[in-house]
Amino acid sequence: MKNPFSYSNIVTGDNFCNRQKEQEDLLDFIRSSQNVLLYSHRRTGKSSLIQQVFLNIEQQSLEIAILYVDLYGTTSEKDFILRVFQQLNRLESNTDKLLKLLKSSMDRFSFQISIDPATNLPAISPTVKSSDETVLLKNLMELLEKFSRKRQIVIALDEFQEVAKYANAASFEKQLRSYIQHQPNICYIFSGSQQHLLTAMFQSQDRAFYQQAASYPLPAIKSKHFIPWLTDLFKKGALDIDQSHIETIVQRLDSQPMYIQLFCFYLWQELQNKAWTDQTLEKIERHMIDQKHLEYQILWDSLSINQKKTLKLILLNAGKNLFSAGNLTDANIKTASIVTRCLKSLSEKEIIVKNGKYIIQDLFFRKWIHLSV
Ligand SMILES: Nc1ncnc2c1ncn2[C@@H]1O[C@H](COP(=O)(O)OP(=O)(O)OP(=O)(O)O)[C@@H](O)[C@H]1O
Ligand SMILES: [Mg+2]
Repeated sequence: MKNPFSYSNIVTGDNFCNRQKEQEDLLDFIRSSQNVLLYSHRRTGKSSLIQQVFLNIEQQSLEIAILYVDLYGTTSEKDFILRVFQQLNRLESNTDKLLKLLKSSMDRFSFQISIDPATNLPAISPTVKSSDETVLLKNLMELLEKFSRKRQIVIALDEFQEVAKYANAASFEKQLRSYIQHQPNICYIFSGSQQHLLTAMFQSQDRAFYQQAASYPLPAIKSKHFIPWLTDLFKKGALDIDQSHIETIVQRLDSQPMYIQLFCFYLWQELQNKAWTDQTLEKIERHMIDQKHLEYQILWDSLSINQKKTLKLILLNAGKNLFSAGNLTDANIKTASIVTRCLKSLSEKEIIVKNGKYIIQDLFFRKWIHLSV
């Protein structure tokens, strides 16, 4: 029997827990072509939510064309443009027609066709010299606008914070905004996790994307949704798990969806040939920490001594009162300004987040520090 849990990659369908309200909200934004900034800490389920909503649009045969553009790893305007191009087959799956459409609106460029291994659809890329990028972007955005007059489009730009790291980010953001503002039938979903970059892009008055999208912070999934969903998935895997155990798992894993899936994946495996005991949960958690040991050790070694002390300071004081003289002395840190500096650099590395108090974002890194250093 197949393990019913899925911890890697984007999840949809049976592997996707609830988020009914978020699915409806996102669809409302899409229908009204209202741009939206979807953000949260890492691994909260942004990409999965977008894909689930896109799946709903397809399954309900809504008259909306969908483009999902993953900007992870892009380092330049050119990469950005090419990633959008790869998705154009979602507007027109007939390659001849798509080529005709492209040639009619971009006569300066020639195109190559390849098969996208992920979708088996033909993907088209332009042959482009860097000097042509501005024109290519203009043509591309005009093509999208033209298409959207016939059919609404939703374009998800996932990992959008990457754009802020491009060498000419400021001018690229300005260009993008000037096109986006003139596309009343296109909904852009800007999605990402590096909050300091995204907030700077959308909330600083001097940036092009200032107030260009409705802000939508993605909340955690509530335990009341996790519990029946997990119970069902275990049943699908022919296991009956006590509700109280499931509650403990959700609580122990801080309602973090990726770790809950991973934990249940191992639990399901464990219970194939062993009975439940008082040690079962502990054993699986230990196994998960062990599996991450090397990764965390490398991460830990890459930190400065003061960053390490600051992480311990956070753990010792549950993320609060980090600047009090007594706490600084206990953590063996000389001055409060060291802490200020380290909190900033650790936030930029996305190791810690501030949510009323400071927390180490990765739950298992937190557990590993407790055990190992
Ligand atoms: N609604 C959900 N139901 C069940 N599991 C989920 C759900 N959303 C996310 N997950 C789990 O969390 C993992 C991470 O989800 P996803 O990649 O969608 O998050 P993300 O916020 O886009 O992450 P990142 O910040 O790294 O881009 C998935 O692989 C899956 O195991
Ligand atoms: Mg994602």
